[in-house]
Amino acid sequence: MSNPRRMITLGIETSCDETAAALLDGPSVLASEIYTQQTHAAYGGVVPEMASRAHLKKIGVVCRAVYDRAGIRPQQTDLVAVTDSPGLAGALLVGIGFGLGMHTGYGMPITGVNHLDGHIHSALLEHPDLSPPFLSLVVSGGHTALYAVRNMGRYECLGKTVDDAAGEAFDKVGKLLGFSYPAGRAIEEEAARARPGGGLKFPIARLSTSGPGFSFSGLKTAVRYFIQSKGAAYVNDHRPEICHAFQEAVVGSLLLNSRTAAGQTGIGRIAVVGGVACNGRLRRAFGDAFGANAIFPSPNYCTDNAAMIARAGFECFKRNELRRPSMDPVGGI
Ligand code: KG4
Ligand code: ZN
Repeated sequence: MSNPRRMITLGIETSCDETAAALLDGPSVLASEIYTQQTHAAYGGVVPEMASRAHLKKIGVVCRAVYDRAGIRPQQTDLVAVTDSPGLAGALLVGIGFGLGMHTGYGMPITGVNHLDGHIHSALLEHPDLSPPFLSLVVSGGHTALYAVRNMGRYECLGKTVDDAAGEAFDKVGKLLGFSYPAGRAIEEEAARARPGGGLKFPIARLSTSGPGFSFSGLKTAVRYFIQSKGAAYVNDHRPEICHAFQEAVVGSLLLNSRTAAGQTGIGRIAVVGGVACNGRLRRAFGDAFGANAIFPSPNYCTDNAAMIARAGFECFKRNELRRPSMDPVGGI
């Protein structure tokens, strides 16, 4: 029996410091490649110009790798889906330019994908039966927001951070404690070494709105003042306890707001996506609170990747809502 007609989608992601490509057959991932740029660690954050140049070096490499891995030729691609917002302008342009080159050269359709829409779709990659309604908590280095997903592609933003993103707070506190960028995983590992019963606590911001809302810059400042007041010797001896208390505050805020959103909307299922969703403490806390109704992608699909972009593009194709990529560094959903 011959195979049914395939629908091959190429996903491209270059919005920040990951150069990523993925191939999907329908909703299923055939191959996914992620190159994480290492050059930024020395600077404590992503340097936009260096990111663009590194994307330019690697975009062809990661795309070639997914075609080789899947045993497919580029001209067999049915759709190109590329992140066009939000992100670093020069970084986005590399991916968009490459995608438009495929579209112009081979003639397949192309669509722009919002990066946050991609993260929301990452929950579907390993949970193909997941369907709206569900809540989506997007927690990454650049974004922290809660959405009610009543239809794929149509989101109600229930609340977002008024200042820093959760991942940004991990990275900034990590810098204060001497970890290199990005610091999320290092803080989690350090927190796991904390001696029990220390009693150290940092405040969770409760915004004076009736619905969900996040703020992490006060927490970062509280950690900074705490470190300054205690001095280097104390910090050296208590780094795990400081990491633990900080992580508890972030997880506490994310959980509190998610519970508020579930109560407000009556939606009991939640997908937690974005780089911070790699965090084991966060996963356990949501698992305890929401049980099997808490859904997490595997870590490779939490951090920036192109499979989620291809998945979002494939949904646009099914809804007949393809749109020409249009670079927008600040475009939200
Ligand atoms: O989704 P992502 O790859 O990029 C953005 O779209 O921003 O997320 C990167 C963020 C970084 O801030 C990083 O420190 C954080 O995710 N992160 C973590 C962990 N792994 C990555 N934060 C806490 N715990 C982790 N295990
Ligand atoms: Zn992201």
